Amino acid sequence: MNKNNDILAKMRKDLLSWYDLNGRTLPWRAAKGQKIQPYHVLLSEFMLQQTTVATVGPYFEKFVERWPCISDLACAHLDEILHGWQGLGYYARARNLHLCAKVISEELGGQIPEKEDDLKNLPGIGIYTAAAISAIAFGNPANVVDGNVERVMVRIHALKQPLKSIKSQIRDLSAKISPPSRKERPGDFAQAIMDLGATICTPRKPKCGICPWGFQCKAFQNDLQDLIPARQDKKSKPKRYGIVFWVKHPDAGILMKKRPNKGLLGGMVVVPSTEWLEKEWSTKDAQNTAPFKTNWNPLPGVIKHTFTNFHLELSILATNVSKIGGPNDFIWIRPEKMHEIPLPTVMKKVVQHALKLS
Ligand code: ADE
Repeated sequence: MNKNNDILAKMRKDLLSWYDLNGRTLPWRAAKGQKIQPYHVLLSEFMLQQTTVATVGPYFEKFVERWPCISDLACAHLDEILHGWQGLGYYARARNLHLCAKVISEELGGQIPEKEDDLKNLPGIGIYTAAAISAIAFGNPANVVDGNVERVMVRIHALKQPLKSIKSQIRDLSAKISPPSRKERPGDFAQAIMDLGATICTPRKPKCGICPWGFQCKAFQNDLQDLIPARQDKKSKPKRYGIVFWVKHPDAGILMKKRPNKGLLGGMVVVPSTEWLEKEWSTKDAQNTAPFKTNWNPLPGVIKHTFTNFHLELSILATNVSKIGGPNDFIWIRPEKMHEIPLPTVMKKVVQHALKLS
């Protein structure tokens, strides 16, 4: 064994010892002595894509209580899953999770595949998620590279280039330090780096003095930890504008619409709206796209919401109707039933605002 391999082996050992004492207790992790449930790992990894551990916790617990195993999830109606997912955002994940559960349940005898290549064939599972499930749920060696791991790697090696420009170099470095065999606990190792990144090697003010890798970290040794990773200039997000049509019927309730399954807010229920454009709508142009011709009255206030790629400002045009009609994809929802439908957060804001005023 050469010197470099010795150092890597020591680093793996030190990290695992640190994890055994300091690893976070998270609802999808098996308690000491308990068996890991691959379904829990798969579900949590879907939820944790783009979302923080703190946000995911209660959603995860609600899901496993309602759908205790993967075949329960496969049998659920997509609307129920989207309803449970509301507030987590990135709803394509919920649709993929449902598809993935169906494939596992109907085509793979309910067994979650163990190998990365087989996992990658499933809906919603990419390189990272396949590696994470294979390592965490089944203890297979894998190179699990998420944002935390990237930050830790560039600090350990004091790489000053922007993260985006050295992704493959970071993957190679992570592969080198990842456990080569099951003996070195690949699942715990992957979660240990995530915990290290979340609690010690944090984006700002890392706690290098208590880091188990402090001695091997070139950034810390050269006092560069606040400069690495290099900060990317944040592109400012564009602003988009839309007008929603708030239609109230005394008995039927509020006119709503189910979005097609694909695309932003796919499968969710929304208040009918104009397109969301980068320039503000005139009332006249907006009215031309309304569900029907009538007297539309502006409601005071704007609803603001931020998506990943843009800020949105919605104004509201309202009307009351006494007849029910309109195109087929419209549905009527009574205000007291709003909590039963899968409403994305932006539309919750619209509904709460408009119900107060109309
Ligand atoms: N992020 C994604 N997967 C995670 C896990 N298993 N533990 C902590 N953070 C995570």
